Amino acid sequence: MKYTYFAITLAAIFLYSCGNNLSPTYSHDIAPLIYRSCSPCHRPNQVGHFNLLTYEDVRLNANKILYTVTNKLMPPWPADPHYTEFIGQNILSDQEIITIEKWVALNCPVGDSLHIPPIPDFPLRSFIGIPDLSIPVKPIALKGNSMDQFLLIKVPFELPTDTFLRAVEFAPGNTKVVHHVNGDMVRFEYDKKKNVFDGELVSNMKLDSTIGLAYQKIGILHDDGTYPTLVKSIVNYLPGVIAQQYPNGIGGWKVNRKNAFLLADLHYGPSEIDTWDSSYINIFFAKEKPKRPLQEFQMGTLGVSPIVPPLVIPPGKVSTYRTELFIPKAISLVTINPHMHLLGKRFLAYALTAEKDTIRLIHIPRWNFNWQYFYTFKKMVKIPAGSTICVEGVFDNTIENPLNPFNPPQTVRDNNGSMKTTDEMFQFIVNYLPYEEGDEQISLEVKK
Ligand code: HEC
Repeated sequence: MKYTYFAITLAAIFLYSCGNNLSPTYSHDIAPLIYRSCSPCHRPNQVGHFNLLTYEDVRLNANKILYTVTNKLMPPWPADPHYTEFIGQNILSDQEIITIEKWVALNCPVGDSLHIPPIPDFPLRSFIGIPDLSIPVKPIALKGNSMDQFLLIKVPFELPTDTFLRAVEFAPGNTKVVHHVNGDMVRFEYDKKKNVFDGELVSNMKLDSTIGLAYQKIGILHDDGTYPTLVKSIVNYLPGVIAQQYPNGIGGWKVNRKNAFLLADLHYGPSEIDTWDSSYINIFFAKEKPKRPLQEFQMGTLGVSPIVPPLVIPPGKVSTYRTELFIPKAISLVTINPHMHLLGKRFLAYALTAEKDTIRLIHIPRWNFNWQYFYTFKKMVKIPAGSTICVEGVFDNTIENPLNPFNPPQTVRDNNGSMKTTDEMFQFIVNYLPYEEGDEQISLEVKK
């Protein structure tokens, strides 16, 4: 008797929960999910090429949405959530995908149109908030010649006093052509630089062996010819990348009164029509001096650990490469960035402790060249002294790979990190701190 009652209650709960999802509506089920997972990119001035903000936007694109979510193309999140989780992880649950399927099958009912939740207040041209200062990058006219362009651009700025930054964000102007940026910052000594704006702002020179010349040309040197301090890798951008920001005291940089960002490689993708770009760099001031500035190492191409075997990828084959780094002193991992180009197929990184325990770092089962994030752990990950960080990259140099730039396939190598998309790279960038007792408990989530 007791059991019958229990079974009926269970059945009732089951029917009720199914009933809820049997007739999903826009206002009740779909809008919250779209606002959370899609609108941050699909809104004006962002990378998604159309808006997903209103019922009409979503209804008119319902079939495309259905296709991209059921094939797990959108939202773009290449890292395997069953291996490790990161801050800002943007995925739909299986239940949510089923809800979208049902909703589209029902012909997109709006539901209670008076109670569609309000569109969230997304900050203009930012993923992370309202910047303290938006510094314009010199607008660039781009020829419609269907060629890639790489520019070296200086973005000088002055502040009323020396202070500290907690985050720097690149806000692309023309999201159709801006592909990626790696940016450094130079800090001038106040009395050694009269005018931060002198020299040319834009050059098509590369910062390789001619670094001194390029610096002279765009006026990066002090007036007496000496080099200012260079802060490497302060701003990085690829479509969808969310600028890194950390809780108070972690990360951050000093800035002087006179400075310049140095966009070492602003990569514009090919365009068939003449067009232009006007991007911004958003800066966010820190309340206090960063107590624990981040440190960085790179493994693989141009990095501190060799690739084995050397990255020479034979045509017509799928091949695997490894790079390993011994960690002599305990460190706390904060943010990691796996990097490969068009032949990338799979990426795996983990650490092996001296006792041969595995610490999972990241697994990307289907490499996607278009989505290369800087992944920040939810809590710092301790790598004990005596561990080895192991990174494995699989490259597909066959014609089965639709992104293969060569047909028939050719031998592809890293060419000393030439960065050309058609050369390869196999790189793992790690931002870390020297380990301190209790680091594993520190959440890296920034409270809003
Ligand atoms: C990180 C930014 C980002 C997020 C988040 C995002 N998108 Fe996209 N989406 C893009 C970009 C950029 C493109 C175009 C380039 C591409 O196809 O990769 C795109 C393309 C699409 C397309 C294909 C359009 C076409 O005409 O082929 C659809 C449909 C789409 N997104 C739907 C969604 C949905 C639904 C969500 C949420 C579940 C979502 N997107 C989340 C950036 C994003």
